[in-house]
Amino acid sequence: SFNLHGRSLLTLADFKGAEIAHLLNLAADLKAAKAAGTELPRLQGREIALIFEKDSTRTRAGFEVAAFDQGAHVTYLGPTGSHMGKKESVKDTARVLGRLYDGIEFRGHDHATVETLAEWSGVPVYNGLTYRFHPTQALADLLTMGEVAGHDLRGVAACFLGDVGNNVAVSLAIGAVRMGMDMRLCGPRALWPDDAIRAALTADARASGGSFRLTDDPTEGMVGARFVHTDVWVSMGEDESLWPARVESLRPYRVDLDMMRRTGRDDARFMHCLPAFHDDQTEIGARLCAQFGLDGIEVSDEVFESPWSIVFDQAENRVHTIKAVLVATLGG
Ligand code: CP
Ligand code: NVA
Repeated sequence: SFNLHGRSLLTLADFKGAEIAHLLNLAADLKAAKAAGTELPRLQGREIALIFEKDSTRTRAGFEVAAFDQGAHVTYLGPTGSHMGKKESVKDTARVLGRLYDGIEFRGHDHATVETLAEWSGVPVYNGLTYRFHPTQALADLLTMGEVAGHDLRGVAACFLGDVGNNVAVSLAIGAVRMGMDMRLCGPRALWPDDAIRAALTADARASGGSFRLTDDPTEGMVGARFVHTDVWVSMGEDESLWPARVESLRPYRVDLDMMRRTGRDDARFMHCLPAFHDDQTEIGARLCAQFGLDGIEVSDEVFESPWSIVFDQAENRVHTIKAVLVATLGG
């Protein structure tokens, strides 16, 4: 059995494959217990600070519901209202919050901020998304794929299409290769992850018996893929003026029905961390779809709303996997 007590989660690269598997098994157990009404609160008396420099629906709600289900309390510190990074350094904020709280979640721009919080707070720190990594998302992605593929992910093929160097793609790939999956990142060379990440993914895949492929060819990336992932083409904190160039370079990686058919599999599944620009039901989505003449940007509405799509199972699994992280690192 694994003792993850007191550990921070800044990136899944800090967790061995067996530790990731342990968190996924715990998440599955906690999910089943909640459904059965037999969940035992193992975080009673725990206090958790939730720092958000950027917007969030799923991550904030995931941490809050996970904490409440387990008997813990949370404090939400939003983009305005605290002194952190303005009148008070991250290092001082870390030392203060570490005296008051048992754990700290951080979502924001710089990865260095979450590292500083972990270094100086003296309590477990959880990365709720930085520019570089989104590890709690990757855990939910792995749990969701495991539910569909039968819980053993070894050799299971997944392809992430699009902005393959972003936080979601890189974190998914780290988790997937450590679980022995056949992981493909498929997108334009200009957006490929850096050499250090590529070398780490290759080495991790070799160590686990999985495989890792980076390609700009959608046919090569998609053939045989059981799971097809994508994400927004311009991430939070990136310049909105990037949109036309991103659409131009990522258009060949857009997930539509023809793209799904390139898997050659009837049982392929579509996944997206959300939020997704798949229709014109938001102001930004409507503007982008009109500007670029598309029905959905990174994914067509047809695929998003199809039986291939398991995006809301994936969203639900945010709470179960975040809960597993909290229970494993803070639980009594
Ligand atoms: N997928 C994800 O992290 O969603 P939120 O931005 O809503 O937290
Ligand atoms: N890559 C996206 C993920 C959002 C959950 C972003 O960073 O905005």
